[in-house]
Amino acid sequence: MLVLDSKQARHCAAALLLFTLTLGAKAQTLQDKAERLLQQMTVEEKIGQLTQYSGDWRATGPVTFKGNHEEGIRGGQIGAMLNVLGANSTRAYQQIAMQSRLKIPLLFGQDVIHGYKTTFPIPLAEAASFDLEAIERSARIAATEAAASGVHWTFAPMVDIARDPRWGRVMEGAGEDSWLGSKIAYARVKGFQGRQLGDTDAVMATVKHFAAYGAAAAGRDYNSVDMSERMLWETYLPPFKAALDAGAATFMNAFNDLNGIPASGSQYLQREILKGRWGFSGFVVSDWGSIGEMVPHGYAKDARGAALAAIKAGSDMDMESNAYRNHLGSLIADGLVPATLLDDAVRRILRKKFELGLFDDPYRFSDAKRELAMLNQPAHRQAARDMAAKSIVLLKNKPRILPLSASGKTIAFIGPLVKAVEDNLGAWSVKLPDVDYSKFIVSQWEGVKNRLGPGSKLLYAKGCDIEGERRDGFKEAVAAALQADVVVVSVGESAGMSGEAKSRARIGLPGVQEELIKALHATGKPIVVLINAGRPLIFNWTAEHAHAILYTWWLGSEAGNAIADVLFGAHNPSARLPISFPRAEGQIPIYYNHFNTGRPVSADTQDAFKSGYIDLQNSPQYPFGFGLSYSDFEYADLKQDRQKIAGQDKLTVSLKVSNTGRLAGDELVQLYLRDRVASVVRPVKELRGFRRIHLQPGQTRELSFVIDREQLSFFNERLQWAAEPGEFDLMIGASSADIRLRSSFELTE
Ligand code: BGC
Repeated sequence: MLVLDSKQARHCAAALLLFTLTLGAKAQTLQDKAERLLQQMTVEEKIGQLTQYSGDWRATGPVTFKGNHEEGIRGGQIGAMLNVLGANSTRAYQQIAMQSRLKIPLLFGQDVIHGYKTTFPIPLAEAASFDLEAIERSARIAATEAAASGVHWTFAPMVDIARDPRWGRVMEGAGEDSWLGSKIAYARVKGFQGRQLGDTDAVMATVKHFAAYGAAAAGRDYNSVDMSERMLWETYLPPFKAALDAGAATFMNAFNDLNGIPASGSQYLQREILKGRWGFSGFVVSDWGSIGEMVPHGYAKDARGAALAAIKAGSDMDMESNAYRNHLGSLIADGLVPATLLDDAVRRILRKKFELGLFDDPYRFSDAKRELAMLNQPAHRQAARDMAAKSIVLLKNKPRILPLSASGKTIAFIGPLVKAVEDNLGAWSVKLPDVDYSKFIVSQWEGVKNRLGPGSKLLYAKGCDIEGERRDGFKEAVAAALQADVVVVSVGESAGMSGEAKSRARIGLPGVQEELIKALHATGKPIVVLINAGRPLIFNWTAEHAHAILYTWWLGSEAGNAIADVLFGAHNPSARLPISFPRAEGQIPIYYNHFNTGRPVSADTQDAFKSGYIDLQNSPQYPFGFGLSYSDFEYADLKQDRQKIAGQDKLTVSLKVSNTGRLAGDELVQLYLRDRVASVVRPVKELRGFRRIHLQPGQTRELSFVIDREQLSFFNERLQWAAEPGEFDLMIGASSADIRLRSSFELTE
């Protein structure tokens, strides 16, 4: 522990004060500058700052303005672009902005969701790592690359809680748990924004989609959300608040309506909660066209009505609706929108442009030399490989056929994804126009082939396509399997089957892939299945019959190497599912932190008059927090330093974990709590801590968790954040369904 003498302490306090004052003074200067500029702007120029369009790169939504934006930029009618890629292109657009009357620089936004040139695993996969430092590093690298390419602003992180794997966008978030999701949201914002905005390796984060988009009814994208206030505050809002606490510069609203009010027109969400109670001082961008979509929602009569609803609600920037550009001027002239509302939105945006240093040098992010250097850093690839290996979840290994030996073996590597290249990137990857991805991405085939040791042979057969009914490749696949010592099958979705607008009503393994696995299994050879997907899939037969299963999600540029690292044991898997895997679509929404109900089923039996199904058990195929290792771990000696806590007391609980396996590995120890009786019903368990611990074979280590009042708090009967006295169950385990140690304690006041 660092101990300071009184002189040092005074010195530190003075330095801290000076730092705070400098920051304060800097903010004040930026504010003044923004204010002075605002005074010089015409209404049209102000509206321009609130207007954003997509550029030349792949459109990520329905384009509303056909034609060239040059004139609009030159005329000061456009303040921000998205989908303009590369230092040269962003510079070229910026040069046009510099021809406008007030020379206000453009902002360039981009969906940098899981990497820029170097693609990292999809966010849901990264969440499986439960490794906050690695997640922050991944966002940091993405920001470094993107910022060198002229991007000022990423539309990430998506922090929507998702309990419905039919929804294609589960791939983009951190899964079903609000507490874990909050930690990850915080880490990602820190990663993107780096030390401070204004540094040329930092991009503004966008926390999206505000709010509750992840609860779209029936898992259908863009669908309505009907949700209680309790659910909203307890489950869906916390990750947004955590991202805000991390300093997120911007928020994006959402396509969905929440209880009948489209999010883009919701004063409650944007003005009351975000800018009011939470004091958010950045700006809110609409989702793509979401302001205009208030017309088909049936909330606004026309685009003019939509613009009015959106500006009143606090949507500061209009992405691709044309609604502000076409109608705000007349709404102001007619006195329907007070000039102060317009000014508030413009001020918020200008402040960020000043903070980024764009008025000092509008081209400071568009530096082709830095871009070249930053986009080709070997360290970035290494980090992507580490992250990818950390994201792979071992679901089964029985009998223990993994890790495989790299030498002296014939391996049949079969399936439609073995030689796939771009699929490995998953949805929402940035594909730069001048990169040859066939060379940049390590396919699974290449990764495994490069790893083979002496005397080993790799056989290949595609077997079948991802989708479709053709079985004519089965014969060749079975023949390859028969010649092999072990069969590795790579199946799943194509990358394009998850992501935005990629909801699926049936989430089984597509096409005849599970039949292919059955045919290979019939050979009697040991079968390892790799499942590539952007969501939890249902594969009950495979779960029961395959000998080993690795859930590989989409792992990015280094997919093949990371898969080989895990298959051959260079990396001992330690990832855990951040989302429950159902046995059938009928169980959805399925999540571990549900209520008990008045008639809970006991141990998955199908008792009469109990809260179960008559045709299926309640439990998921794989629960939240589940994931195996090549080692085994034992938990023992639970101790806690007190039985009762009061006020601001902290309870420390410790335990011993031993590696009883033959390989060194990480165990992810999870702490769950249950508030037995409260003024409102509490979940059967809630994750409130996790610790990763590395252990050599035979090694035992002690670890501890500290529990304080904050972890026991929830939104009480009156939706106030508070802890209530009473008994709590404490559960420590290897997953939400594998509790190894239990105790209890009491909060007395
Ligand atoms: C998505 C956003 C995304 C935006 C810009 C929308 O369709 O919902 O998440 O940031 O497009 O690409």
